[in-house]
Amino acid sequence: MVRPSIVILTGAGISAESGLSTFRGNGGLWEDRRVEEVATPEAFAADPDSVHRFYNLRRAQLRDVKPNAAHHALAELERAWKGPFLLITQNVDDLHDRAGSQRLLHMHGELRKARCLRCGAIHPWDGALDQATPCPSCHQRSSLRPHIVWFGEMPLDMERIELALYLCDLFVSIGTSGNVYPAAGFVQQVGAQAHTLELNLDASQTTSLFHESRRGKATDLVPAWVQEISG
Ligand code: OAD
Repeated sequence: MVRPSIVILTGAGISAESGLSTFRGNGGLWEDRRVEEVATPEAFAADPDSVHRFYNLRRAQLRDVKPNAAHHALAELERAWKGPFLLITQNVDDLHDRAGSQRLLHMHGELRKARCLRCGAIHPWDGALDQATPCPSCHQRSSLRPHIVWFGEMPLDMERIELALYLCDLFVSIGTSGNVYPAAGFVQQVGAQAHTLELNLDASQTTSLFHESRRGKATDLVPAWVQEISG
C-alpha cells in the first residue's frame, strides 16, 4: 500500500507561544527595524557589528525558550507516520530540532550555526559572534557570519523541497504570514493530487489559495490536527 506523503511548512507563528517574537504585526521584529538594516548581505558588509549584535541577541534568547505543544506534536507525527514526511521551517530557531524532528529542513538557515565566508565551513555556534572571532577551520578573522539566509539570497535545500512539494498528498502551512517567497508560493507548487491546509492565528496573504484554513493558536490547532490524522 502506498502511504500518503506529508509536507509541512512552518513559520514564526509556531514559535510565538514559546516566547519568540514573530516578524510582522504588533511587537514583531520588523516593527521597529528595517529588514535592510540587519537581514541583507549589504547590511552585513556596511555594518557587520550591528548585524552580529542583532543575531547574537536572538541566539542568546534560545537559551530561555522551549519547544511548545505544536513543535512536540509535529515530532510525534513524524515518528508515527508510515509514509514520506518532510518538515520545512522558515524559522532559524532550534525548537523543532529540540522537540525531536528529524526529517527537517531549515530553509532560512539556523541561528545556532556560523558560516565562514573565506573557507565555506559551517560550524555549530552557541555563543556570540563578532568580527574578531576566528573561523575554527581556516583561523581567519572577520570571516564568520550567521548561517542565516538574508533577503536577496537563495534559500537552502530548494531542489529537495520542490520535489517533495510536487509529490506530496497533503501540504500543511503553520504559523506563517505568506509574505516571503519562495515559501509563500509553496501552496501553488504542490501537485494536483495534494490537499492543502493552513493553520494560522490570522488570515495570511495566501489563505485563499488553500483548500482549507483553520484559525487559532498553534498549540491548540496543531496537536488537534495531528490527533485527527493519526487516528
Ligand atoms: P511573520 O511574522 O510574517 O508571520 C507570523 C504568522 O504567524 C502571522 O500570520 C501570525 O498571524 C501567525 N501567528 C502568530 N502567533 C501565532 C500562534 N500563536 N499560533 C499560530 N499562528 C500564529 O513570520 P513568517 O511568516 O515566518 O525571513 O515570516 C517569514 C520570513 O520573514 C521569516 O522566515 C523571516 C522574515 O523576514 C528571513 O529573515 C529570511
